[in-house]
Formats: sequence, structure tokens, C-alpha cells
Amino acid sequence: MAAAGTGVSGNGTSRLTIETNGLSKRFGHQLAVDGIDLAVPQGSVFGFLGPNGSGKTTTIRMLLGLAAASAGTVNVLGLEMPQRLDEVLPRVGALVEGPAFYPFLSGAANLHRLDAASRHAAPATRKARVKSALERVGLAHAAGKRVHAYSLGMKQRLGIANALLSPRELLVLDEPTNGLDPQGTREVRSLVRSLAADGATVFVSSHLLAEVEQICTHAAIMSVGRLVAQGTLSELRQAGQARIRLLTPDAGTAFDVLVQLGMTPVAGTPAPAGDVVTAVAAGPKEAAAPEEIVARLVEAGVRVRGFSVERESLEDRFVALTGEGFDVAQ
Ligand SMILES: Nc1ncnc2c1ncn2[C@@H]1O[C@H](COP(=O)(O)OP(=O)(O)O)[C@@H](O)[C@H]1O
Ligand SMILES: [Mg+2]
Repeated sequence: MAAAGTGVSGNGTSRLTIETNGLSKRFGHQLAVDGIDLAVPQGSVFGFLGPNGSGKTTTIRMLLGLAAASAGTVNVLGLEMPQRLDEVLPRVGALVEGPAFYPFLSGAANLHRLDAASRHAAPATRKARVKSALERVGLAHAAGKRVHAYSLGMKQRLGIANALLSPRELLVLDEPTNGLDPQGTREVRSLVRSLAADGATVFVSSHLLAEVEQICTHAAIMSVGRLVAQGTLSELRQAGQARIRLLTPDAGTAFDVLVQLGMTPVAGTPAPAGDVVTAVAAGPKEAAAPEEIVARLVEAGVRVRGFSVERESLEDRFVALTGEGFDVAQ
């Protein structure tokens, strides 16, 4: 539990950069965000994954104090939001719904204007900070070019440069690759990956599973306003069920053995060499080792003519959790 007001959270072993409890947002009759408990560890690249309309942007707006919560609490960097907004915001860089750029000003001139509009930014260091932010996102060569001549990927990187104008402990990026072509998408993904290497915690939303798998260490999955899973990517993968597939002429005995092993077998479909019996473990952690399953089957006199184990992919799991197919392109 983060200790609000001290800037330090709890026992020190696992500091949370973002923590919400029962965070909810109601729009009329619709509960767009439904009691979510987010726990974003310090230093993580945290993927906030969910289909369109699942409540990601609404949540992000509440994290940043851009929208009021209907219920629940938000802690960012150990401080309660929105009460401590003035202390929190200077330490957070955000890209939500892209900043509006002046098309006929250069990228550098746009950043100067945005920095000047920020109460917390020191004018004396502005020039140097704009330069280094542009370098950071790979736009140094286009600093003097008018923004209307930028590609979408360049505009998006300029938006990220804006979030990087001051040193930040937390970066919040809402679907930073949305609307980008494959080249722009690659540029932004590799940029996001590199941001974390500088020590910032990165909270990035996406409706693309593949994207989260490529750039994140942790993820949370939203479905219709609810948080249906969160953890490290490997925890999320481990939680997937294993499915075995067995080919045998002794389906009846195999059935009994699999049930004894805590699995749920599905009646065999006849095949030339016997029946195909499939079975899933009762729970993700309960699956016996494949060699043990085979040993037990053989012991019971089951003629094993084919055996395979398939672990549910992260994609299967997301589809099972959200009830929606993810766009797996790119
Ligand atoms: N200002 C608003 N007024 C009414 N409904 C809204 C508003 N903002 C978002 N919603 C609704 O809340 C749900 C979640 O939206 P959003 O947070 O934008 O989802 P996501 O970012 O995951 O696509 C959607 O059904 C959306 O229509
Ligand atoms: Mg959104």
C-alpha cells in the first residue's frame, strides 16, 4: 500500500509508481471504468492492454487528474491524486490524445512554445532541453522543418519529445502507435523501449497484443471497464492452461487416468490409429508434467500412439479474458 503524502511507498521492496484502488468512472448509466486496482511497479514498462472502448483512455485521464474519478483512489509516485497534482505533474510526462502542434512552425519552435506554456519549466535551460528531447526521439535532423511536413510517425515522436522536455520519473503514453504506418510504428516502439532504459517507468496503453509483447515487461488487461488480469508478461503466460492431445485405442482407460490427474478430458474423436482424446488441466498450476502423464497412462495399460502438449498462448488467453479477438498485425 503506498503511503500517501510521503513520496515513499510502503515496505520499499516493491515500490509502485502507480497504484489505484477501486478506481471507477461513470458516464451516465455506463460504468466505463469499474473498480480497477492497478499496480504498476517502479521501473516497469507497463502495457495497458484492452480492446477499443474498454476504458483505457478514461483510466489514464483519471491517473493524470484530467478527469475526476467517480469512486476509488489514485496514487502516482506515492502521492494521492488529484490532491497532489501540482507535485506530481512536473515529474510525469504524458502523451494523451497528442498535443496540438502549429503546422507552420518547426518541430523545435513547437516544443519551445509548449515548454514556455508549462509553469514548471525553467526558461534558462529551454533551448538545451528542446535540443536534447529532439535528439532523444531521433528528430534532431528535422528540428527546423515545419511540422506540416512531418510524417505521422514524426509527429508522434514530437509528441513524445514534448513529454521528455524535463526529466521524468513516469511517462504515460496513450496508444502512441495509433494511426502510424509500419515504419512509424517501429520507430515509436523502439523509442518507448529505450525510454525505460533511462530508468523511467513507462505506462503505455495499446489495443495490440503483439505490441505489448514486444515492448513491455508487465501488462494489465482491460475488458469492458474491468481489469481482468495483470502481472509480468511471464506470469500472464504461465497462467495459461496446458492442453494435451492423446492418440490411443484405449480412450476409456485414458479418460479415467486423466481424471485422476485432475484434468478434464474431452471425449475422443475416432482416428485411424485410435481415438484422439484432449484434456485440459483443472487449473493453470495443476498441470502434471507431460512425462508424468505419459508414465501414468502407460502404467494403466493405455497404448499411447501420439501425445502432445500445447500451452495456451497469450493470445488465446486474452481472447478468453476479453471475449474479443485482438488485432495481431505487426
Ligand atoms: N466523455 C465521455 N462521455 C461519455 N462516455 C465516454 C466518455 N469518454 C469515454 N466514454 C465511454 O467510455 C468507454 C471507454 O472509453 P475509453 O476510455 O475511451 O476506451 P479506450 O481508450 O479503451 O478505447 C467507451 O464506451 C466510451 O464511449
Ligand atoms: Mg483510448
